[in-house]
Amino acid sequence: MEFPFDVAGLLGAPAGREGPLVGLVDESHLRADSGMLSTVLEEMGKRSAAAQGLRKPVTSGAFLGDQRVYLLAQGKTALGVLKVGRKRLFVEAPFRSCELADVRNSFQEIEPLCTLDFYVHEKCQRSGLGHQLFSVMLQLEEIAPEQMGYDRPSPKLLAFLQKHHGLCKHKPQNNNFVVFDAFWDDVFKSDVRGRSGYTPSTCRQSASHRQPSMGRGVTSERKSVLSSGPAMDHQRHRRTAAPIF
Ligand code: ACO
Repeated sequence: MEFPFDVAGLLGAPAGREGPLVGLVDESHLRADSGMLSTVLEEMGKRSAAAQGLRKPVTSGAFLGDQRVYLLAQGKTALGVLKVGRKRLFVEAPFRSCELADVRNSFQEIEPLCTLDFYVHEKCQRSGLGHQLFSVMLQLEEIAPEQMGYDRPSPKLLAFLQKHHGLCKHKPQNNNFVVFDAFWDDVFKSDVRGRSGYTPSTCRQSASHRQPSMGRGVTSERKSVLSSGPAMDHQRHRRTAAPIF
């Protein structure tokens, strides 16, 4: 999607830089922006929504809060967008072992980093750009794909995750998010190892008074968790603004 200005330059690309690059946009960048970054996010958000058949864009150029957007661009062209952020979810853990009766089949409250929006322009899908964009995000967020949640992943995203990361098995949840079975591996290992009240950072026993997110399309729930997520997490990423080549 072409713009009348240098999108890659906005992300910090040096003059004369060739080839697609990925840049990170967070709330601080949006606030310092003269409006061009917002325009790019707004338009890419609309494209993404249309590609997924969503009524409303998930990504807008107005406000990011604790969420972050990874933008793939080349010169004046925006090629793809990937938005991530933490969500508090109630999910059912998969059946594992009789030894783990305390967690077996029980609902857990977790707050993983989630893929909220992911889109590569139609003209260049299936040419590895999605993989480039997703890989940079994983690197900067210092996370493995199985440690993430996925907000109502499309069949294309499910195929993408299976192909590039071998992720496939997951228990259907009633909140539209997908958490792969592999997410629980560390949790279960820790449970077997410790059995001493260990609570992994991404997984806590459910607290029924909290409102879980219900996934995309449930706007009021989405709004209610927009600003959730540890402040430290946001601070850590504010400084990671340089583009990755
Ligand atoms: N049909 C089936 N699988 C597909 C398709 C498709 N049309 N497009 C991509 N994939 C999967 C396949 O596994 C494919 O491998 P293959 O070509 O060997 O079959 C693989 O992705 C290709 O990997 P990349 O080229 O790195 O990925 P791409 O640049 O196409 O980006 C993305 C993947 C972002 C899912 C892109 O296809 C897209 O924008 N799709 C439309 C929007 C969408 O569905 N986004 C996800 C919404 S869900 C969410 O955001 C939480």
